[in-house]
Amino acid sequence: MVKYRITLFEGDGIGPEITKEMKRIFDSLGLDIEYDEFLIGERAYKKYGELIPKDAIESIKKNKVALKAPVTTPVGEGFRSVNVELRLLFDLYVNLRPISTISNKVSKYKDVDLIIFRENTEDLYTGIEEETHDGYYAKKIITKEKSKRIINFAFDYMVKHNRHKITCVHKANILKKTDGLFLSIFNDIKNNYKMIESNDKIIDNMCMQLVLNPNDFDSIVAPNLYGDILSDLAAGLVGGLGLAPSANLGDEIAIFEAVHGSAPDIEGKGIANPTAFFLSGALMLEYLSESEKALRLKNAIKEVLEEGKVLTKDLGGFASTTAFTDEVISKL
Ligand code: NAI
Ligand code: MG
Repeated sequence: MVKYRITLFEGDGIGPEITKEMKRIFDSLGLDIEYDEFLIGERAYKKYGELIPKDAIESIKKNKVALKAPVTTPVGEGFRSVNVELRLLFDLYVNLRPISTISNKVSKYKDVDLIIFRENTEDLYTGIEEETHDGYYAKKIITKEKSKRIINFAFDYMVKHNRHKITCVHKANILKKTDGLFLSIFNDIKNNYKMIESNDKIIDNMCMQLVLNPNDFDSIVAPNLYGDILSDLAAGLVGGLGLAPSANLGDEIAIFEAVHGSAPDIEGKGIANPTAFFLSGALMLEYLSESEKALRLKNAIKEVLEEGKVLTKDLGGFASTTAFTDEVISKL
């Protein structure tokens, strides 16, 4: 019997290119792992007329762990995001996004070390937009229960991982009820964690502060939309979207994926940076208690970036996705 069976989605755009390399990494780490593979998203829709085939849903329920390459969501029209759908379907209420400087050589800022805890199931992502006489309005939903569970998760995680400071990000000056509720729950819960320094910032100011002084921050907890925006911003601080991993966590099920999307502008060119996906794989290995292998992978990536000889285009190099992967494998 194999040790691990996971559900794997190769996704759209650059997805298949980085998935192929992820499998080579797992093989090189000597992992006893089997994949239940499914198409979801745009390609599944074209092939089966379904965005998330039922078999894929059953597979996640059975395996409880999935690794997902990015999928394409049409802008402005068409179907609802498959990512949002999966997060709701399995109640994956935490979007954990550790974003840190892997190597000072490729990062705009030295020694950044951030964790973003993004609420993953409500806010404007309900996708409910209704018509008015002269346009539309969008429903932003913030509830006590869902705010409590993400904020509690964030504090508990910090205690476990020796993090020292957390910033709650909001726009409670304008959205007094919705973001006001999120902030007031944060202010209640922080009293139970006196050992952790806590403060709050309004989203616009937070963006500026992060660009000016990212080293002033440690952990960030935010409602869904601000968490999404801040994680791309934070990825930019340390070298770009090619480097930022994430985990969607529920009480029983976890789906790991890069922060970035399907990057249709570079699809098929063989130049995508697979690092964000590899680091998502490392997060998955940690979740599966394969910490030693996760660390080996992270160290190998760090070594390649430090040497700076074999880098993908987004980091200023000329290496293909495959050549970069070969280099990482040589350091494992
Ligand atoms: P994107 O993240 O796909 O790309 C933004 C920019 O970063 C592009 O210039 C792209 O070439 C570059 N980039 C992204 N990942 C890269 C990598 N690994 N290596 C090198 N360069 C990389 O965001 P965009 O263009 O806004 O969205 C494209 C599609 O992806 C949309 O349909 C969107 O809905 C979807 N998306 C899916 C996500 C997911 O499946 N988790 C997350 C975000 C977006
Ligand atoms: Mg995003």
